[in-house]
Amino acid sequence: MELQQAIKKRRTIHSFNTKLVPEKIIEQAIEAANFAPCHLHTFPWRFTTFKTDKRKLLVELALELKFGNRSPDENAKKKILEKILNPSHLLIVSQVLNAEPTRKLEDYAACACAIQNLSLSLVGEGVGSKWSTGKLTKHTNTYKLVGIDPDEEEIIGFIWIGYGETPLEIKRPLISSIFRR
Ligand SMILES: Cc1cc2nc3c(=O)[nH]c(=O)nc-3n(C[C@H](O)[C@H](O)[C@H](O)COP(=O)(O)O)c2cc1C
Repeated sequence: MELQQAIKKRRTIHSFNTKLVPEKIIEQAIEAANFAPCHLHTFPWRFTTFKTDKRKLLVELALELKFGNRSPDENAKKKILEKILNPSHLLIVSQVLNAEPTRKLEDYAACACAIQNLSLSLVGEGVGSKWSTGKLTKHTNTYKLVGIDPDEEEIIGFIWIGYGETPLEIKRPLISSIFRR
């Protein structure tokens, strides 16, 4: 696929079906991510796969976060189950921590570039993705489940990967409003 086309075709997929993505496509996307720019060659990005059987533990945590001690509403429960278990792959993206604030900011930017490379590589193969952040990605139990030491790395997002519905078009700002000549 032509690059400009892939950039425009990339969208956040919110609803995934259960079709599996070949491992080769995932590996190729990780390789693309590893080609992202990073200042001072820090290579701060780390990707951890999270297999479906372990994802059931994430479902439990998500339900606990949403409903606490209340018994979950069946519809909402179904939505959480589908959201966590449907996508073919879940990659946990973490950033290797650096105590120096400028370094940390630039490393986050580099990780974002890596995620974009990953997403575009997937789009080129007809595969969708979604970068998600929130209570679940930040929870201490998530770090334990994934086996990441929060003193060493910060989880900056989950990347859900698979096939699904392309969302409605987004009205983007006019170029004249974002580009000053
Ligand atoms: C840093 C970051 C965090 C995001 N976190 C979430 C999220 O938690 N939940 C979600 O539905 N989408 C999340 N998104 C996706 C954005 O909502 C999405 O990119 C935006 O709506 C534009 O849609 P598009 O990706 O289809 O162009 C995130 C995107 C970025 C860059």
